[in-house]
Amino acid sequence: MERSPVPFPVHRDDPLHPPAEYAALLDGPPTRVRTPDGAEHWMVSRLADVRAVLADPRFSADDTHPNFPNLLPLPTVPGALSFLRMDDPEHARLRRTLTAEFTVRRVGRMRPEITETVDALLDEMAGQGPPADLVAAFALPLPSLVICRLLGVPYADHDFFQERSAESLRLDVTRDEALAAFAELAAYLDGLVADKEREPTDDLLGRVARRVRSGELGHEEAVAMARLLLLAGHETTANMIGLGTYALLRHPDELARLRADPALVRPAVEELLRYLTIVHRGTQRVAREPVEVGGVTIGAGEGVVVALAAADRDPGAFAEPGAFDPSRPPGHHVAFGFGAHQCIGQTLARLEMEIAFARMLERLPGLALACAPEDVVFRDSVVYGVETLPVTWSGETSG
Ligand code: HEM
Repeated sequence: MERSPVPFPVHRDDPLHPPAEYAALLDGPPTRVRTPDGAEHWMVSRLADVRAVLADPRFSADDTHPNFPNLLPLPTVPGALSFLRMDDPEHARLRRTLTAEFTVRRVGRMRPEITETVDALLDEMAGQGPPADLVAAFALPLPSLVICRLLGVPYADHDFFQERSAESLRLDVTRDEALAAFAELAAYLDGLVADKEREPTDDLLGRVARRVRSGELGHEEAVAMARLLLLAGHETTANMIGLGTYALLRHPDELARLRADPALVRPAVEELLRYLTIVHRGTQRVAREPVEVGGVTIGAGEGVVVALAAADRDPGAFAEPGAFDPSRPPGHHVAFGFGAHQCIGQTLARLEMEIAFARMLERLPGLALACAPEDVVFRDSVVYGVETLPVTWSGETSG
């Protein structure tokens, strides 16, 4: 008997676990879901099914398709999210122009600068506290500073673009509010990219602007790329640092082990990525032709919600998936997606998190929540995280 569609998304009761409503679906076959606009789609949740969909070019990432699942108040603005929402060969043509910027070697060269930024922020925070809001003082400014420097966006404008980008991705705003925020962000980046086209600067967007001058890229294509990088590059990493710190503070034994052995920070970052999977509503696709996934045929033109957070708790893929265990053998989580659209910024995100957690634990002994865990305010948008994180500490060791 066919079950009636499950509502998607639903809010989580426990900030560290996917909604209880989905528990029974975690290791089940694709199921039907209904999104807030009343549309029905498939949801794939097992790790193997998620990887199968994301690796299969018969599933399209083109959000202008009428059945593409839209979970946001922001209506689809064609081209708005650049190659994230395009298929090959267009996707590959645009993505290729950025791959040299994000190689392990290139990103590795940013280590000293990121370490300096982390220490400067911790100095400032330690100079003014305890207590402090870890989000405002550390988790948010770090990735913003890093992405601004990388792209060549003036950091002085960060309040402006942070508010606009957060507003574009929120679920609790009206369609008009989301559209207005998006249009302001678009106009800002249009001006910035046009300036760089006139006078190319020595930064990522300056190099993109040179490609516009040479006719290799269109101006609109460059602006859309800038928007995607700015949106994807700071909100995600900021939430991983904020929510990641909360998760560590809720697991004091693991935290003590990390403090005792900094070599564990890397595996802990990987486990935090899996455990939290902050792109918690997953990603979306639409089938171009009928495809069999996990014993179910997804019909041509049907939308698919790809539940990354569910896949990363799949009991068939991870032993005791609900446990936070940095010593688990490295698995293949999908916190950064999978296939052609797998996150281009993952090496940078990993490096930022590794340095941020290592330095924070070293510099702030006795780091603890400065409020009851139930008083922490969580942010429930496209990306899950903490709105603010009041923390305290017992001393400070200088960098
Ligand atoms: C794609 C997550 C950091 C830039 C993705 C996707 C996920 C993801 C799940 C795949 C989306 C899909 O298949 O539809 C994350 C997480 C991050 C992070 C969890 C932080 C912990 C970053 C950073 C940057 C970035 C720092 C840039 C500097 C991008 C871009 C894409 C992408 C451009 C589109 C790739 C494509 O379509 O080919 N990210 N991301 N991300 N991410 Fe990230």
